[in-house]
Amino acid sequence: VTPTPPRKPDPRDGRSGGPRAYARGGVRPGKRPPLRVFTTTLWEYPSQHYDSATSGGVVGSTMQGDKDYTGATPSWVIWQLLERYTRKGDRVLDPMCGSGTTIDVATDLGRVGMGFDLQPTRPEITRADARELPVENESVDFVFVDPPYSTHIDYSDDPRCIGKLDAGEQPTGGRTRGRDEPPVPMGQAYYEAMEEVIGECHRVLKNRRYFGLYVSDSFRKTKGVKGGTFMPIGFELFSIMRDYFKPVDIVAVVRHNAKLQRGNWHKAAEEQNFFLRGFNYLFVMKKEG
Ligand SMILES: C[S@@+](CC[C@H](N)C(=O)[O-])C[C@H]1O[C@@H](n2cnc3c(N)ncnc32)[C@H](O)[C@@H]1O
Repeated sequence: VTPTPPRKPDPRDGRSGGPRAYARGGVRPGKRPPLRVFTTTLWEYPSQHYDSATSGGVVGSTMQGDKDYTGATPSWVIWQLLERYTRKGDRVLDPMCGSGTTIDVATDLGRVGMGFDLQPTRPEITRADARELPVENESVDFVFVDPPYSTHIDYSDDPRCIGKLDAGEQPTGGRTRGRDEPPVPMGQAYYEAMEEVIGECHRVLKNRRYFGLYVSDSFRKTKGVKGGTFMPIGFELFSIMRDYFKPVDIVAVVRHNAKLQRGNWHKAAEEQNFFLRGFNYLFVMKKEG
């Protein structure tokens, strides 16, 4: 795959329906297209971050969160959500805050960011398990979460890290299922943990306010042979979220990660008949009643 060369920013760039022939990193900091509220359910932007007059309190910042943090959320995705679903002064909570991208975007937009993680990377982030937040019921105006997508990244040594739970785990458990027992789904421990996180997000969110969850499906190739395990994490989490919230919309966010730039991955995907992940889901939900 030949990366698309850098080109002059187009005023329509970054809007769904506009030109999209970007490669990640193809636009230099300071030369990125300005952010506007996107109007379709297909989102793409040529960079992980946007240029801001003041981001995270830093004047002239070209980054939110940490570009070197493996698994960081594209900050412009959070920007889109906060622009649409929050007002100045609102409390925005991220229970799996990682490098603190949500805090920086919230500060940038005049909202109050609240970040939690098992492995805090900055003093503003409080150490807590996302399943048990030290936060009062119905006290925040927006929740954003970008959870681990199964075991694809080693976030920390904390045994409570949900990134240690395999969404593709086969339900053998060492014993045979009784005739009348219901089938155990694949990756049960991962989905049970995520249901606790989703329930906790519901608890702390005020009524009639919004929740955004950003996630990708996963595929694990079986070494040495064709095929592997597909983990439909997006559909599974959407169905859990529906039990707590009213669905508002589903957005497909185009991915520009480093793996998608590697020719050998594309060759393997074609020869061994699997797909590389080309998009993330962004689920938007509303708490009602
Ligand atoms: C995809 S990353 C979040 C990235 C973040 N939004 C950013 O932009 O940097 C997932 C995060 O979930 C955290 N995590 C995993 N299990 C957790 C748990 N039980 N409670 C709180 N945080 C957890 C990991 O430490 C990791 O930082």
